[in-house]
Amino acid sequence: MKILSIETSCDDTGISILEAKGGIKNASFKVLADSLAIQDHAQYGGVFPMMAKKEHIKNLPILLNRVLKKTKSPVDAIAVTYGPGLEPCLWTGIVLAQELSKKWNIPVIPTNHMEGHILSVFAKNKGKFTFPKIDFPLLALLVSGGHTELVLVKDFGKYKIIGKTLDDAAGEAFDKGARMMGLPYPGGPHLSKLAEIIRKRALKSTDIFLTEKFLALGADAPPQSLQNHLPEIKFPRPMMHSKNFDFSFSGLKTAVLYYIRDNKKYDKASVALEFENAVVETLIHKTKKAIEKYKIRTVVVAGGVAVNKHLRKEMKKAVGKNIKLYVPTKELSRDNSVMIGVAGYLNYLKLKGKFKKASNIKAVGNLSL
Ligand code: KG4
Ligand code: ZN
Repeated sequence: MKILSIETSCDDTGISILEAKGGIKNASFKVLADSLAIQDHAQYGGVFPMMAKKEHIKNLPILLNRVLKKTKSPVDAIAVTYGPGLEPCLWTGIVLAQELSKKWNIPVIPTNHMEGHILSVFAKNKGKFTFPKIDFPLLALLVSGGHTELVLVKDFGKYKIIGKTLDDAAGEAFDKGARMMGLPYPGGPHLSKLAEIIRKRALKSTDIFLTEKFLALGADAPPQSLQNHLPEIKFPRPMMHSKNFDFSFSGLKTAVLYYIRDNKKYDKASVALEFENAVVETLIHKTKKAIEKYKIRTVVVAGGVAVNKHLRKEMKKAVGKNIKLYVPTKELSRDNSVMIGVAGYLNYLKLKGKFKKASNIKAVGNLSL
């Protein structure tokens, strides 16, 4: 069957068409068309829901035309993200799904964005892919701009959140930390690039190429820490040793704020390095604890922050050889509609024809797994 999927939960507009076959355990997919419009909110320093909504309304018909031109033949169902996310944005996708459902007389499958992120690790944004044989229970660390969750997945569709952030999400922490250092929004990738360069500090501080790279990233000068000693900065690892699997990142943000206030001539790259180390260490520590407690053999890391190189590298080391680690491709780490098509298909199979009336589907901003 053919599924058209729509994603508008935050600031990326996505529409894809997937050909899907098989049952839940042996589902296979082919991407027939994929289209994504990335909004640029850098000048505002964050995403304003009403502005993002306007952009979705502008982008959706363009993307729809693009994917329909590519596939031509009719689709059999529509999968749409109905939460979690920014409600004004979610509604733009839902309204389009409702209109198309009426026009084409096909069902709409309301789809959870976070389920999409989990399944994104098995997908590709081009060509064919099938689900691997998975050793359940699987543990998913979901890290994005809006979420930081540890999810125990007993089977496809059976989710239990065992830990979550009590305040800021990991991506949000990266963005806020970066903002304090004057880096552009979204700051996560910029902050991480600064940290990554300094990690490879075998290079000399006099290296002209490296100096230019730092300046281009917004640093005032090449960091002192390139001169053969590690930065002295130490930020806290909040809740690292708490007994549960919850996270907290707001204290880290405060630590950066105080550090910057007290060290006027601070070195951006050194702050970035310690900041990234603190976030990643906390995420890994809790994931390892959950692996032990639940005797996990399969780990998934997904969401926008899953792109982070340091997190990927450290997670690989932490899980070791006996645990299978899945991470999404760079394209499917960020919000996208392919993952919504995949999650939508699984829900389509589970519903066995008992579809909700399209007009009854509503946006649920704080939808949980
Ligand atoms: O999943 P996503 O695209 O959107 C949400 O659903 O939130 O995640 C976006 C988040 C942003 O906070 C962004 O700064 C962060 O992912 N991010 C990163 C990196 N790339 C994106 N954080 C740390 N390191 C990165 N390389
Ligand atoms: Zn997301």
